[in-house]
This record gives sequence, structure tokens and C-alpha cells, in this order.
Amino acid sequence: AARAEDAVQRLTRWHDDFPTPGVRFADLTPVFADSESFRTVLDCLAGCAPEADLVAGVDARGFLLGAGVAALLGTGVVAVRKAGKLPPPVISREYTLEYGSAALEIPADGIDLAGRNVLLLDDVLATGGTLAAAAALFTDAGAHVVAAAVVLELGFLGGRDRQGDYPLTSIVKL
Ligand code: PRP
Repeated sequence: AARAEDAVQRLTRWHDDFPTPGVRFADLTPVFADSESFRTVLDCLAGCAPEADLVAGVDARGFLLGAGVAALLGTGVVAVRKAGKLPPPVISREYTLEYGSAALEIPADGIDLAGRNVLLLDDVLATGGTLAAAAALFTDAGAHVVAAAVVLELGFLGGRDRQGDYPLTSIVKL
């Protein structure tokens, strides 16, 4: 965990006033592009829920984590998509953004989610609306979110307070 934390601290690319004025954007691209860092991050995330039988990653950077961690745990992976990307029927959840709202979706058929133990992953936890909506999708489908984990938590935005009762791990908390 210490090695993963070091890698994230060292390689995260920060940018002020992106995508909107007043926002400081954390770009984890260099963390994932570095072979050792990527592997330590994946190991760390996989360790959050070794009992998971399904991994889910949130659009878009969560896909990279979800696939890698699923391969390590020997599970399948579900991509939690932004609205409009999946054919119906879908399960959908709206969440609020700084301005307006958006929705996340997963398929409502084709995967049996009832009773599954899901590890939910994303790159960054900011205001928390995205992760909470993603978790709600699986709860709606009858699955258990056994853990959620992110690489970077922007703690000053209070996103943790908006989560359900699943344990939430972050490799780096600011
Ligand atoms: C970012 C990030 C998280 C979300 C966190 O994704 O990857 O998914 O924001 O924000 P929140 O905690 O305030 O909800 P973004 O919406 O930029 O989408 P992208 O990954 O497709 O670029």
C-alpha cells in the first residue's frame, strides 16, 4: 500500500482550472502508464475485497482499473456506462454534477447480479455522486457492494459522506 501511495503522489498530473475555472484536475494517466505503479495500484485495489465475485469500473478511467483488478482476482468485470451507451433494457441512476445532472447505467438483463459480491472501482472520488450512483445500480439489481475503492480521494469535497454502508478505501486521500 505504501508503494502504491508513493506512486500516486509522485506521478499524478495536476492541472488548475480544468475542466472549469476553480477546479483542480487530477490526471492519473502517468500512474497507469508506469508498469510498476500500475501493478502496485491494482494489487492494492484487489486487496480491498478478495472475496468479491465481480468487479465493476466506472466510466471512463475506472474501466482500466476494473479490468486489471478483475484479472488479478479471477472474476469478470462490468463497465458502468454513462447514459445512452448501452442498449435497453438498462438500470439507470441519475447523479448531480456541479451544474445539472447525468446518469450511469448497467444492463438490466444478460448478467445475473442477484446476490453477487461486487467490488466497485473508480479513479477519483470528488463530490461522491458518481460512485454513489454506481453503487446504487448494483443494489437495485440485488447485488451487494462489498467494497468500493478509488485511487485518489479529494477528501475536502466530502464525497465519502455521500456513500452507502460499503467500506470505501482510497490509496491517497487529500
Ligand atoms: C471523474 C472521475 C470520477 C468522477 C468523480 O469522471 O473519474 O468518475 O469524476 O466525481 P464525483 O465524485 O464528483 O462524482 P468524469 O465525470 O470526469 O468522467 P470521465 O472519467 O468519463 O472523464
